[in-house]
Amino acid sequence: MLKTEILRMLKETEGYVSGQDICEKLQVSRTAVWKAIRQLGEEGYEIEAVRNRGYHLKMAGDILSYEEIASSLETRWAGKNLLYFDEVDSTNNVIKREAENGAPHGTLAVADYQSGGKGRRGRVWKSPHGVGIWMSILLRPELTPSSAPMMTLPAAMAVAEGIRAACGLDTKIKWPNDVVVNGKKVCGILTEMSAELDAINYIVPGIGINVNTETFPEDIRATATSLYLETGRRIRRGPVIGAVMKAFEEVYGRFMETGDMSQLMEDYNARLANRDNKVQVLRQEGSYTGTALGINDRGELMVRREDGTMENVLSGEVSVRGIYGYV
Ligand code: BTN
Repeated sequence: MLKTEILRMLKETEGYVSGQDICEKLQVSRTAVWKAIRQLGEEGYEIEAVRNRGYHLKMAGDILSYEEIASSLETRWAGKNLLYFDEVDSTNNVIKREAENGAPHGTLAVADYQSGGKGRRGRVWKSPHGVGIWMSILLRPELTPSSAPMMTLPAAMAVAEGIRAACGLDTKIKWPNDVVVNGKKVCGILTEMSAELDAINYIVPGIGINVNTETFPEDIRATATSLYLETGRRIRRGPVIGAVMKAFEEVYGRFMETGDMSQLMEDYNARLANRDNKVQVLRQEGSYTGTALGINDRGELMVRREDGTMENVLSGEVSVRGIYGYV
């Protein structure tokens, strides 16, 4: 799209981009460029136009739009098919509908607001306008359904790495897939799947990142945070999405080489917030406490129980809590 390409050129150039250059590079008319620039202005970008010099993008505030995301993506397949919504029920639902209609691997849906954001365990995920990244990606891996729960771990690694790269924050992961900054949750992931007995049709990791959230509801205030609260700066969502998708392609590639966590285990464990922490494993059959040692190549959390016996905890089956707090 023309607007996306112009935005990309403006972002890549510190000074001015001449109208002539845009026309030549993108093979369009002056009028088309002028129209696209005007539309970008209406969407909130501050673009300065100076006679004989051209156009200059004053570094924009946090605008989320199709063009903003598309011009931030430097990926081969993740987000190449991009869907953007100002408002939607849940991006996970969007991707599931798209998947049923044959959308390709890597299709990415991003929304500015979700009216029915879903959290894990049937909880509601508050997804207000203007402050978060609510996005889901369609994966069509050739794996057996039993490998699916593991796919949520590379997604968490990608978010952790993307946030570090885009904002410079020291990110950790609370097993299996909450991304944590300074001991508080900044991102949650809900992974849904459709499978036959012997094959996965598709997997949908749905990622919710609190970006410019200023306050949280009372019930989660002690455990939730945002990129804004942790950096003290307003964060632009486009580049964070770009960085997360870039990291995602890389981690996903390493995951798919073996179809398990064997190549990622070390990096994952280096980021594991619960590592060596006392945790409580909550199962339906009863809970127990132990020390979290790290994940194995199946992505299971290895826990040493107080009597010294070892347990491998499968994600999706149980919930793990810190004894001394959220992590
Ligand atoms: C959690 O409970 O920690 C998981 C939260 C997942 C929220 C994201 S926001 C984008 C995607 N769409 C949804 O409805 N949920 C996920």
